[in-house]
Amino acid sequence: MFENISKNGIYKNLFNGKWIEAKNKSTIEISSPVDGKFVGKIQALSKEEVDEIFENSKEAQKSWAETPVNERAKILHKAADLLEENADEIAKIMSEEISKDKESSLSEVVRTADFIRFTADEGMHLEGETIGSDSFPGFKKNKVSLVTRVPLGVVLAISPFNYPVNLSASKIAPALIAGNSVILKPPTNGAISALHLAEVFNAAGLPSGVLNTITGRGSEIGDYLVTHKLVNFINFTGSTAVGRHIAKISEMVPMLMELGGKDAAIVLPDANLEEAAKNIVSGAYSYSGQRCTAVKRVLAVNSIADKLTELIADNVKKLKVGNPEDGAKVTPLINDKAADFVQELIDDAIEKGAKLILGNKKEKNLMYPTLFDNVTTDMRLAWEEPFGPVLPIIRVNNIDEAIKIANESEYGLQASIFTRNMDDAFYIAGKLEVGTVQINNKPERGPDHFPFQGVKSSGIGSQGIRYSIEAMSRRKAIVLNIK
Ligand code: NAP
Ligand code: G3H
Repeated sequence: MFENISKNGIYKNLFNGKWIEAKNKSTIEISSPVDGKFVGKIQALSKEEVDEIFENSKEAQKSWAETPVNERAKILHKAADLLEENADEIAKIMSEEISKDKESSLSEVVRTADFIRFTADEGMHLEGETIGSDSFPGFKKNKVSLVTRVPLGVVLAISPFNYPVNLSASKIAPALIAGNSVILKPPTNGAISALHLAEVFNAAGLPSGVLNTITGRGSEIGDYLVTHKLVNFINFTGSTAVGRHIAKISEMVPMLMELGGKDAAIVLPDANLEEAAKNIVSGAYSYSGQRCTAVKRVLAVNSIADKLTELIADNVKKLKVGNPEDGAKVTPLINDKAADFVQELIDDAIEKGAKLILGNKKEKNLMYPTLFDNVTTDMRLAWEEPFGPVLPIIRVNNIDEAIKIANESEYGLQASIFTRNMDDAFYIAGKLEVGTVQINNKPERGPDHFPFQGVKSSGIGSQGIRYSIEAMSRRKAIVLNIK
């Protein structure tokens, strides 16, 4: 079903229902982070082409907004079915393109189909309200405000490399069900998987122009997109640095931003340490730590820190390292620059006296899982997001010190607390400056209808199916004045 989206290895863009070649013929080569193998080329669109696409999206949105929501939902259901039918093919490309292990690539695609279906159904159950005037002092029963939700217009969806299908669809589907048109700017590494997703929506019968795509390097075309006069909403997931830059340059455009994290796992003396260690290792090292919700530091109370470190190390040793094709869980990072950055953090920790338990081995962009104990707050690893398979254990004296260090981070995405004592769990959860606290589980975004949000440098606004639909629609009130 994907024969139209590329020609001679060059992937096109979806424009007004057709896959088109860029006029300027400028392309970017995508090679696999695993072995450098050629995956395909994507096009770097020009500003003129971007303008045409925005115009087209703006026009297409008008009739899409008038399309009954039950018809929009049918198209989304069809898209979900097509995505599932083609899951193996898309997962294979994703695995090559971003070096994600096969099982996780497939589960990302299947999860996305479920996400789209749930979004279609949720969109049909979004209701407005009526508000009578007489509850406000001095007013009689002579006014009724009829409040409904209406779309915003053209949504610009910018997704990151680590979930190119899921974090594209989690913007596209809620935007569409709310009646917006969408322009998808996929990550450069991950673009090919994301373009397959766009074709799934197209083939499901989305009217022409309701979903368009723009490929090209964010560093070159990004500023032009986010400051475009026709953009009505920016839905961005990516690094804090880029998110902050976008927030600075875009003027009065509403946005939803999911950014970086430094999620802490706080482990108390009464925790089930075996379970905590398993969760921490899966949380820290899956997809080689390239998840915003990865466990990025452990705050272990002194009395159990030795035992916990030993258990974590035992679990890390079981991780398979290498090629995603061979079922490895820790695979090459997205590029050499990312691996060099992780190595910098490791070197800094070693230089400042952290105790290396495992790892510190690098083969090009393949970083072996690395574990440190006795990390202290003067080390970069205590604060910076590695986005790689390295985990610092920071020892603390008590609960309040754990809370203090957890909150000193510039980030505030999620945190985990491992304990059997619910009083302690709720005391800590109440004090943590994060969007979500997990009790006795690793940080994670799903299930996808839960609200998911970061505070401080971790984001603006809430994702999650209903919350995303709400973010990409607005209230409109019509007041009936009764004589
Ligand atoms: P990134 O470098 O910030 O890129 C994200 C997206 O922004 C890509 O599509 C990128 O395009 C684009 N972009 C770059 N510069 C831009 C600009 N000036 N204007 C507009 N768009 C621009 O992030 P990443 O490396 O893909 O992803 C890793 C980061 O994302 C980590 O920090 C991680 O924590 C965060 N993340 C957060 C969440 C969350 O939900 N909180 C989820 C996933 C990832 P190019 O690819 O062409 O550069
Ligand atoms: O990378 C950031 C994603 O939003 C995290 O999603 O917790 O399902 O891995 P996840």
